[in-house]
Amino acid sequence: MDEMSWSGRQGVMVPAAARAMSDPGATGRFGTYGGRYVPESLIPACHEIETAFREAWSDPEFRGRLDTLLTVYAGRPTPLTPAWRLSRELGITLFLKREDLAHTGSHKINNVIGQALLAHRMGKERLLAETGAGQHGVATATAAALLGLKATVFMGERDIERQELNVLRMNVLGAEVVPVTTGSRTLKDACNEAMRHWVSSVDDSYYCIGSVMGPHPYPWMVREFQRVIGEEARAQCAAELPVGVPDYVVACVGGGSNAAGTFAGFVDTTARLVGVEAEGGAAATFGRAGVLHGFRSLVLQDEDGQVTEAHSVAAGLDYPGIGPEHAQLRDGGRARYETVNDEEVVQALLRLARTEGILAALESSHAVAWVIRAAESGGIAPGSTVMLTLSGRGDKDIASIKELL
Ligand SMILES: Cc1ncc(COP(=O)(O)O)c(C=O)c1O
Repeated sequence: MDEMSWSGRQGVMVPAAARAMSDPGATGRFGTYGGRYVPESLIPACHEIETAFREAWSDPEFRGRLDTLLTVYAGRPTPLTPAWRLSRELGITLFLKREDLAHTGSHKINNVIGQALLAHRMGKERLLAETGAGQHGVATATAAALLGLKATVFMGERDIERQELNVLRMNVLGAEVVPVTTGSRTLKDACNEAMRHWVSSVDDSYYCIGSVMGPHPYPWMVREFQRVIGEEARAQCAAELPVGVPDYVVACVGGGSNAAGTFAGFVDTTARLVGVEAEGGAAATFGRAGVLHGFRSLVLQDEDGQVTEAHSVAAGLDYPGIGPEHAQLRDGGRARYETVNDEEVVQALLRLARTEGILAALESSHAVAWVIRAAESGGIAPGSTVMLTLSGRGDKDIASIKELL
């Protein structure tokens, strides 16, 4: 999409964009990305999950149960908070979509309640999950406890060290946390192990993937479970803003689930969509097309096609790939992807904490860091309105922040 398509009256639907972020169909393709690249033994499981999800998603009873749990259990809708003091300092109007206030402290719970209900409906007994920052692991342990399922969470040894609080939370919630000691001992390696384990336990276990990645139907299904963020934010902006739609919609990107859910609510508007990656894990910016963890997308790799290690202060963004739909949105120009470095992120976390009294997760602070930089350098014009999804709270990061300071 060229710049012309952005322009026009605020909030007017852009026909091409209206078709974006819809059902990718049986192939699970987002342009040339997505698909299903898994061992033969997992193909029937992927089909089974796709069929179960299609049925559940069109079943009013399932949707009603999910909506009820999101409301009475997870605390939705989350508020849209004006960042009063920071807005004044930056010369813009900044709104924060407060996923940090959802139960368990991040957006991950939206997806996990959906998938756990699906697993329960499919008669599965155990949830398998990978986790980086531990937020998806905590959400999985939580939903498993709620529905009477077992939970096994794979986590890189390095992430176990830097996200100790979340490991304790998972233990208290009754989940088994399996340390992963291979590779960089971070999220990529946890995904490898979780998938390996799924192959050998596919009959009774459901693999609850934590982002818009993995084989079809996961990228689409997880985006649909996270769509609630964007839809709520769209309605809240319509109520708050004179023109109804913000100039910018911004979210951090690890695999890309909070960004995908957010973008889904605004893709058919004139809002500029911006995903913010960690400089050391910026697959949308520095990646090339390749296959990782069952899907084709943009992946950080060397000249021989070997996946390279990602490095980020935020465990949840320490991932060398990006969800396939983001790759499509990038190629089509409907969303753009920016990078920030660790130092900017820590400074942004402190600044938001000290201007607004909100301690954001290191992951979410990537989005804040980009908005600060863009507003201060004229990349965002003075007077613009910005809707930023604050994906999670920073309690889990206190020990890391102490070390970094
Ligand atoms: C608070 C928070 N935000 C963002 C992310 C990144 O995930 P995604 O890009 O799927 O939203 C994570 C991942 O652990 C997280 O914990």
